[in-house]
Amino acid sequence: MFYRLREKGLILTGIIALFLGLTAITAHAADAELGKEDKACLSCHDKEGLSKTLESGEQLSLQISTKAYEASMHLGTSCEDCHSDLDAKTHGKEKKSIKSKREFSTSMRESCRTCHKKKFIEYDDSVHAALIKEGSKKAPMCSDCHNPHTVRSAKILQPIDQVPCAKCHEEIFKAYAKDVHGQERIAKGISAPLCAGCHQAHAVKAASLGTGVKDACLACHKNAVEKHQDWLPNTARHFEAISCPACHAPDAQRRVNLRLYDGVAKKQVSEKTGVPQFERLTDAADSKDMGLDERALWSLLKDFNRDGVDSKTVLRGRLEVRSGVEAHQLSEKSKAIKDCNTCHKEGAAPFQSVTLTIAGPDGRPLRHGIQKEVLSSLTSMESVRGFYAIGSTRIKLLDTLLVMVVLGAICVPLGHMTVKRMFKSVREKLEAERAAARTEAANPSAPSAKSPSDDATK
Ligand code: HEC
Ligand code: HEC
Ligand code: HEC
Ligand code: HEC
Ligand code: HEC
Ligand code: HEC
Ligand code: HEC
Ligand code: HEC
Ligand code: HEC
Repeated sequence: MFYRLREKGLILTGIIALFLGLTAITAHAADAELGKEDKACLSCHDKEGLSKTLESGEQLSLQISTKAYEASMHLGTSCEDCHSDLDAKTHGKEKKSIKSKREFSTSMRESCRTCHKKKFIEYDDSVHAALIKEGSKKAPMCSDCHNPHTVRSAKILQPIDQVPCAKCHEEIFKAYAKDVHGQERIAKGISAPLCAGCHQAHAVKAASLGTGVKDACLACHKNAVEKHQDWLPNTARHFEAISCPACHAPDAQRRVNLRLYDGVAKKQVSEKTGVPQFERLTDAADSKDMGLDERALWSLLKDFNRDGVDSKTVLRGRLEVRSGVEAHQLSEKSKAIKDCNTCHKEGAAPFQSVTLTIAGPDGRPLRHGIQKEVLSSLTSMESVRGFYAIGSTRIKLLDTLLVMVVLGAICVPLGHMTVKRMFKSVREKLEAERAAARTEAANPSAPSAKSPSDDATK
């Protein structure tokens, strides 16, 4: 056919070539066509309204559009490559019972593995796969994000609301679509990240775990560190201690998150599957649900340190936004938080809400409230390991020094350095004193053999 058309003239050839060129990019139509068996399947299955009722009462549509299949990346793949378990003799004649849509998807789950091993391995290591292992009925499998019969190339730009993440993370999607990246994406196309640009598509990890998301930001915004250094002293420290949205989503509510951190293995402590230690210990230590106080926190840390000489559990503080939606309300740079007083002022709002987290078995944080006074108490300073935003609490000596640092930062960079060094040595001294005080204070009540509830409830 192609040959005959070419005889009709160059222009037509041009058009055809262009057409084929386009479809080759989008559909591989040039080098594949439907096999005989596939056509046979479709002779029954491309019928409007073909569906079946599942045991759950759900309707499963059985219609497969030939046109969409031909336009899909799987045109060269035969139905039976994935549906190898159908019995040709009885299929379509006898009713087969299927429990639910989810059950059916699960039964088909492995079918992608043979041809997409790499993606499968990445996916297996994701928070979504972990959720499924825990029994989640809602976390996605391959076919929740890719319809195997209509899948198009990932390179095709679709309207952003077609991103598969949107249907399950609806509220986050709505926030994202209005923020700097969503708006940029709508206006200009691919340069700004969609969900997978910050979270990955397959190896999606719990967002607050590790530094994956932050690294993604910095990989695109290569000059971000320099740009902040112009005005923000010790930028590296601030970037470690503050999540990017905590400054870039200016209307968000912020809080302090104290994360359990293994100082030896150098990573966040995670709850072992099947041994839900965290909830048991925190609930016991906080029976009135008022938030853990200083002593309870202290004895909890001891409990975590008890098993295993190697582990050294400490707390790593971080300032972050309070909800997933707020993490996706990034605005343009002129609106970002620049005022040092937002954080470095006594009673600063972000320090009024404090939580303690451990990474759950799937990586998502398990939380427990902490009384905010913990941050300004000298004895807990050691366990809070340096997370102390000067000025935000009641420790006056440090506050005074902050004022000098801030002045230094604005007026005399040289002076600033000196004050910073001074600040550091005073801080180290304070910490040493505190450590001593703490050992004294903690020893008499050494609670190692007692259950945490005994000594922690006030
Ligand atoms: C003669 C018509 C016909 C042909 C040909 C046919 N199907 Fe079906 N198919 C049906 C009907 C009818 C059902 C619903 C059966 C039921 O209600 O249990 C069905 C159900 C299905 C289901 C849902 C799961 C299940 O087992 O009920 C899948 C998947 C499926 N067909 C795939 C295929 C594939 C792949 C081919 C080609 C190899 C094919 N079908 C060929 C008629 C057909
Ligand atoms: C790349 C693998 C793959 C190929 C190729 C494939 N299917 Fe499927 N099919 C699946 C998976 C996976 C499901 C389950 C989808 C889900 O989880 O809802 C499915 C589901 C179905 C269903 C049930 C309705 C639905 O959409 O869930 C029918 C009918 C079906 N396929 C028919 C076909 C026919 C006919 C062909 C060939 C023209 C074909 N399939 C090719 C993987 C494939
Ligand atoms: C028999 C082999 C085979 C199986 C099984 C298979 N695929 Fe594919 N898949 C392919 C081929 C071939 C392509 C086209 C790849 C290309 O040309 O880059 C493809 C392409 C894709 C693409 C688009 C890639 C892109 O470039 O954007 C996605 C997404 C995809 N497959 C998902 C799935 C899912 C989900 C399943 C399981 C339901 C599955 N595949 C099962 C062979 C297979
Ligand atoms: C949570 C949604 C989600 C799940 C689950 C998912 N994918 Fe994807 N996949 C995506 C997105 C989004 C893309 C777009 C490409 C990107 O941004 O990396 C993609 C891209 C792809 C591609 C093309 C990638 C490329 O680099 O050309 C293939 C192939 C693919 N997925 C296969 C699979 C297979 C197989 C599974 C199951 C193991 C799977 N996907 C599970 C969302 C998902
Ligand atoms: C510009 C990068 C970026 C993009 C694009 C992005 N996210 Fe996020 N996402 C983040 C950050 C940052 C966090 C908070 C991480 C933290 O706690 O440090 C987050 C957190 C999350 C969380 C965890 C929320 C919670 O309850 O703690 C989910 C779920 C999520 N994102 C899904 C999505 C989805 C779905 C999209 C697309 C609509 C998306 N993200 C787009 C950066 C991004
Ligand atoms: C089929 C539904 C579904 C789809 C599609 C889906 N997710 Fe999820 N996802 C979930 C569920 C359920 C959870 C666990 C509950 C929660 O945290 O929201 C989850 C959890 C997450 C988390 C961990 C949340 C945390 O606290 O850190 C991130 C990050 C995430 N998803 C990102 C994505 C991204 C990115 C995509 C698209 C590439 C996507 N999801 C697509 C259902 C889905
Ligand atoms: C302490 C608050 C704060 C933190 C934390 C912070 N930023 Fe900023 N950022 C700002 C402010 C304020 C500006 C605008 C500076 C100005 O006026 O030029 C800005 C500017 C930017 C810009 C625009 C740079 C330019 O001028 O081109 C980018 C991109 C950016 N930040 C990314 C990030 C990333 C990524 C992170 C996390 C690693 C982060 N920021 C953490 C406050 C912060
Ligand atoms: C895939 C690349 C990419 C990733 C990943 C990414 N951004 Fe962006 N970002 C862009 C682009 C493109 C723009 C719009 C153009 C511009 O202003 O630089 C933008 C704009 C911004 C702006 C507005 C800058 C201004 O001039 O007003 C801020 C702030 C910002 N991003 C912060 C972040 C943060 C925080 C993260 C991580 C949570 C992140 N970005 C991740 C590409 C990215
Ligand atoms: C969004 C909150 C926030 C803003 C805005 C902020 N900081 Fe900080 N800053 C912190 C936190 C939290 C720490 C504690 C870091 C730690 O102890 O790990 C800190 C630490 C510091 C330190 C001590 C760093 C060190 O070497 O240990 C100095 C100095 C400082 N900030 C100065 C400033 C100045 C000057 C500004 C304004 C230009 C500013 N900060 C803006 C939250 C903030």
